Amino acid sequence: MYTYDRKEHEKRMAWFQEARFGLFIHWGLYSISGKGEWERSDGRLPAQPYEGRIADFTASRYEPREWARLARRAGMRYAVLTTKHHDGFCLFDSALTDFKATESPAGRDLVAEYVTAFREEGLKVGLYYSLLDWHHPDYPHSTDMLHPMRGNPDYPDEGRDFNRYLDYMHGQIRELMTNYGRIDMLFLDYSYGDMKGEKWKAAELVDMVRTLQPGIVINNRLETGGATFGSLLTRNPLPWHGDYVTPEQIIPPKGIRNEDGELVPWESCVTMNGHWGYCTLDRNWKSSRTLVRKLVECVSKGGNMILNVGPDAYGAFPQESIDILEDFARWMDKNGESIHGCGPYEAPKPEYGRFTKNGDRLFFHAFEKALGAMPIEGVPRDRVLSARALATGGELPIVDNFSYGAFPDTIFVDTGSTAQLPDETDYVIELRLKEEGRSR
Ligand code: GLC
Repeated sequence: MYTYDRKEHEKRMAWFQEARFGLFIHWGLYSISGKGEWERSDGRLPAQPYEGRIADFTASRYEPREWARLARRAGMRYAVLTTKHHDGFCLFDSALTDFKATESPAGRDLVAEYVTAFREEGLKVGLYYSLLDWHHPDYPHSTDMLHPMRGNPDYPDEGRDFNRYLDYMHGQIRELMTNYGRIDMLFLDYSYGDMKGEKWKAAELVDMVRTLQPGIVINNRLETGGATFGSLLTRNPLPWHGDYVTPEQIIPPKGIRNEDGELVPWESCVTMNGHWGYCTLDRNWKSSRTLVRKLVECVSKGGNMILNVGPDAYGAFPQESIDILEDFARWMDKNGESIHGCGPYEAPKPEYGRFTKNGDRLFFHAFEKALGAMPIEGVPRDRVLSARALATGGELPIVDNFSYGAFPDTIFVDTGSTAQLPDETDYVIELRLKEEGRSR
């Protein structure tokens, strides 16, 4: 009988809750067609000519050290790389299949190089592995909900041995947990319909993973997809409960809490444009300003954000993605302390921005210039020791002139006379607070 150990869980999650910000990387054969990683399923494409693209998979511009440097400078503390996506193509040298990068012109174990590069850059290392596999002959085809050959009578499921597929899937995850040193995160993806829980032999799988990688953080998708949360929110989590919840392309309006109203670890996974895998035609890039503010929003609600890059066919980050990561680097370089190690401040969302907090350091993220001094509500005036611009450390006056006297419960901070804030993306005001109940 499995007993959820809250203390053990909290200990395992400490680095994740401190990190707050990670890099997701979706790279594979789908990066060649440039139509996203669901191309086969969306188009109900047979295996060929799609899988024939392995002949064009060169990884000729794959520079994992450059990826790692960009991520670290952007303030990311961990990364997750797709080792096998739904199409079944493996970026790692699995002994269980030839449908892998080491059998392509790339001729390299791309996961091994990723792990080494990111670990050397000081980031935590995560691996994504798809529970679905549209290449494997024993995975359901015509009767499955998502397979490219779903509903196709030419692909009957008689004779397919799903247990044989599970042996393959568990075997590959064992390879990933054994052959690449310490792995900090496992992003499994994903459960749907009756394909969930023990259908994947989840208890046995999680037991194997935690035995091989005792401190590893596992997501919640042995139970669910991105749309629901799983048993972590209940008083009796299942043996294969996720360590964190994975809202997809959404930030939960109020964060995510369990049945007792306590915040649980969660991470919004977000694309920079509209696709996970490289998509030539998708020019719908979110602005850096929007993405920085979404990171702040996640942290203000007690969560993380993992931001995705889809490298192109050669393994190069798109220039737009590089530009966004470099914008993050500039902002995080000055303001990262208002993200890393921070969480929510239990007060209503301010009108002109958001709060994050770390101990006695309260960060007011100003997204909009106020008319006059910046009003900050929900902070008792007698607890505020000082106000500073986080980026420069420069003190900011707390003003009490005649305009503000009618609002004794609001603090007004002078942010300067210019019409715009000094940082139009997010101008961070740091308030140092007296500890609750202390005189100074
Ligand atoms: C969904 C998509 C998958 C993507 C994942 C990222 O599960 O199916 O393509 O890798 O979200 O969270």
